[in-house]
Amino acid sequence: MDNTYESNKLLGEYLLFHYGSDDQLMPWSDGPQNGLRFPVRTVRELIDHSSLPSSTTIRAFDVGCSVGRSTFEIASFCDEVAGCDLSHSFISAARSLVDIKELPYEYLEEGDSYQKAVAKVEYDPSKEISFFVADACSLPTELKEFDLVHAANLICRLPDPSLFLNRLPQLVKPGGQLLLATPFTWLNEYTPRENWIGSGDSEQKLVECLKPYFELEKKVELPFVIREHRRKFQYSVSIGTRWRRIGSAV
Ligand SMILES: C[S@@+](CC[C@H](N)C(=O)[O-])C[C@H]1O[C@@H](n2cnc3c(N)ncnc32)[C@H](O)[C@@H]1O
Repeated sequence: MDNTYESNKLLGEYLLFHYGSDDQLMPWSDGPQNGLRFPVRTVRELIDHSSLPSSTTIRAFDVGCSVGRSTFEIASFCDEVAGCDLSHSFISAARSLVDIKELPYEYLEEGDSYQKAVAKVEYDPSKEISFFVADACSLPTELKEFDLVHAANLICRLPDPSLFLNRLPQLVKPGGQLLLATPFTWLNEYTPRENWIGSGDSEQKLVECLKPYFELEKKVELPFVIREHRRKFQYSVSIGTRWRRIGSAV
């Protein structure tokens, strides 16, 4: 299957979604402003920073991180954070941002006319931030026991989300937190019908999947806007949840 996340147009779209200014992302003043800065909000609105350990190195993992904005946001709460994504071009962009803190890109204005922009990051150099290509459905076994795992808008893009959900009890250490966001946009082109986590009852099915190992602590609505071009936008609303890993290590 083609990876639609590899195209240049999509790279520009995601760099804009993650690093664009409010005006670049939504140039219409009466457009939905509550959908801006999504990759920051999935971290800031969900994290419980008061319960992160204070005496040990805090390790976090951002799965399906795309071009990495949330990963950089997580770094402000943790000592080490790794982001992974299936897309080589997204990971390459995120790595450039770690190395040189700026990345020129282009996003679609209209037709085949593009606008130039520069993605910029600032982060504390004492933080260890890394990015690598990996499949969320078959993560290497050595990845385990993170204090925090973040996965935004990922599960309904996976061919078999239950493979990822079943890995979560090992990925999150007991007492650690899982930050999930999903709009449950099930589409056969990404996830065959038989692998959907519910249909109409997805929220309840997700709770059933996670309940043996996680306790739901917080739930918020997280709207987001993705700009396709100057006059076309996707507006969606993810359910953002924070889960506490209960029980002992598996
Ligand atoms: C809808 S985007 C969300 C990206 C980012 N988390 C955000 O909130 O903007 C879905 C991301 O999942 C990635 N992805 C799709 N299938 C994947 C897989 N099997 N393993 C890891 N990442 C995957 C895509 O490349 C894309 O970056």
